[in-house]
Amino acid sequence: MTVHVAQISDTHLSEAKPFFNTNFARLGEALHEAAVDLVINSGDISLNGAELDADLRRAHGLHEALDLDWLAIPGNHDIGDSQGIGSSYAIDENRRARYRTIFGEDYWAHDVPGWRLIGVNAQLVGSDLSADADQSNFVRHATATANGRSIALFVHKPLYDASPAETDLGGRFLPPAARGGLLSAFTGAKLRLVACGHVHQFRQTNGGDWKNVWAPSTAFILPDFFQPAYGPKVVGYVGHAFHADGTVDSRLVQPPALTQYNLEAIPEAYGDLRAHKH
Ligand SMILES: [Fe+2]
Ligand SMILES: [Fe+2]
Repeated sequence: MTVHVAQISDTHLSEAKPFFNTNFARLGEALHEAAVDLVINSGDISLNGAELDADLRRAHGLHEALDLDWLAIPGNHDIGDSQGIGSSYAIDENRRARYRTIFGEDYWAHDVPGWRLIGVNAQLVGSDLSADADQSNFVRHATATANGRSIALFVHKPLYDASPAETDLGGRFLPPAARGGLLSAFTGAKLRLVACGHVHQFRQTNGGDWKNVWAPSTAFILPDFFQPAYGPKVVGYVGHAFHADGTVDSRLVQPPALTQYNLEAIPEAYGDLRAHKH
């Protein structure tokens, strides 16, 4: 048996700035045509949910309207960014409470035959929120009780570029301390897939025991002057075929109905990219 999961990411949906909502409607049609079993949004569900309840509510409503089973984890634009990296909108108790009021749990586990899928709140890891330890305990328990299942981790930000030993403290990858803390919770686990979003590019790399898969955004790409190319800068989603034998096949899917926006051309969304960081 195989369970087909569509990993969508970086949908950046909004009430007041609905630039990418049409793509989401077209994506929904494509997901129905593909007859996927489950949709997982790997974060930046909303354009500015970190500040605006209305963006979170609109994004949640659009997911409900998909009429498909779905799960989500928060991205920096939904719940605030990682602490300690100089972000002007870091995660705090208030932002986390607002997200959870509208979306429910910000970390979870979901079993399919042969697999345990674990979604985490990337921005919570390494923060001063007491829920950081709760999440870590949850992950440790979920891996300890997996009973031979393969583990897939869904996390908004990629763990690293090329190596877990990297020390760069930027916004693009999980901060080093958070990465170490998160990976330690998977010690001894049969981790086989780490699925992320955030960079708005598709990429697959070999992480040793596991495969790193970066889902592209369904909304927009970022220009080269703002962000290097790690892989194809495209819009689309990732189709994961989780097989009951504990293996997975992951592939880039590019529904032709999606418009590939370049954020450089939409300064109304996040401002002038030459002046600000996404
Ligand atoms: Fe994003
Ligand atoms: Fe992000």
